Amino acid sequence: MTIRSVIRSTGAYLPERVMTNQDLEKIVDTSDEWITQRSGIRERRIAAEGETTADMAIAAGKAALEHGGLSAADIDGVIVCTSTPNHTFPAVAVDVQAALGIAPCPAFDLQAVCSGFVYGLNVANMFVQSGQCKRLLLIGAEKFSSILDWTDRTTCVLFGDGAGAVVLEADETGQGTLDDRGILFSRLYADGRQKGILYTSGGPATTQDSGYVVMEGKEVFRHAVSNMASIVSEVLEENDLSPDRIDWLIPHQANIRIIEGTAKKLGMGMDKVVVTVDRHGNTSAASIPLALNEAVRDGRIRKGQMVLFEALGAGLTWGAVLARF
Ligand code: UT7
Repeated sequence: MTIRSVIRSTGAYLPERVMTNQDLEKIVDTSDEWITQRSGIRERRIAAEGETTADMAIAAGKAALEHGGLSAADIDGVIVCTSTPNHTFPAVAVDVQAALGIAPCPAFDLQAVCSGFVYGLNVANMFVQSGQCKRLLLIGAEKFSSILDWTDRTTCVLFGDGAGAVVLEADETGQGTLDDRGILFSRLYADGRQKGILYTSGGPATTQDSGYVVMEGKEVFRHAVSNMASIVSEVLEENDLSPDRIDWLIPHQANIRIIEGTAKKLGMGMDKVVVTVDRHGNTSAASIPLALNEAVRDGRIRKGQMVLFEALGAGLTWGAVLARF
């Protein structure tokens, strides 16, 4: 018997306000053509005045509970993956816990920026496999609009706000093979030598404010293409898997060119890749659960299918998770 963390349900929340590339043309020296060609982004959602990361996380978490036919009493762990918390402390996870009425249990935030959700799946899986949690609410939630320099065209056109959530549930029917449902394999990395190519200009222990996103886009792009290609190869090799066994690729949504590069490496057609970057932009830790929720809710991802998640973010951090839905 192997305890597996099965994705029981998904949920999402996107702010109502849509900001198009044309809207951005009025704010900075950019064009719809440049943004679309270089990144694949056409529009993104921006949180309303006063709408916070916790608000979005709570809405996504609630949707995931409803989707699974669950109540707060069924949950015994909360992890929120975010780099844009409401406060330096306490964690957004305790806002979620309090708002949803979840009884005392482990609740904390995890910060691995755009790799946050992939890191979160790995950490949550350890809580489930160790028997500490039976049903854990894992959320990726971000309000990057708060930490963008809206005069910097090299960053402000790329990001958006939103939240996605899953409920991970212990399943004891696993046989310890790749035919099991649930999280099957994961691999995480970070390389702190690359911390200077994507960072915020401030923080509580330095400038005492959150600062703004600063990015050497070309360098990050280069690392993303090569690290995503090598990590998906590693997942396949270590599991003795051929790419055709993977039904869906759910990549972090930063740039369509990076996504297409990874799909090509896997020999997967884009019809097997879940893409939301055109409509959501880069929502950091929220991008993967938002994409997952979309493809589950519209019926593309079905029970029993094999899904590969992968992401790269500031740190640099990167990782991949293989799961059977
Ligand atoms: O989620 C975390 C990971 N993040 C990523 O994966 C992002 C990785 N990077 C990228 O996606 C791409 O590097 C970008 C989309 C950010 C940029 O694309 P690029 O093809 O690497 O362009 P670039 O940075 O080399 O810029 C090319 C030109 C520059 O002008 P010059 O120096 O060639 O005259 C920029 O100044 O485009 C200019 N530029 C813009 N022009 C219009 C930069 N930003 C803009 C803009 N509108 N918004």
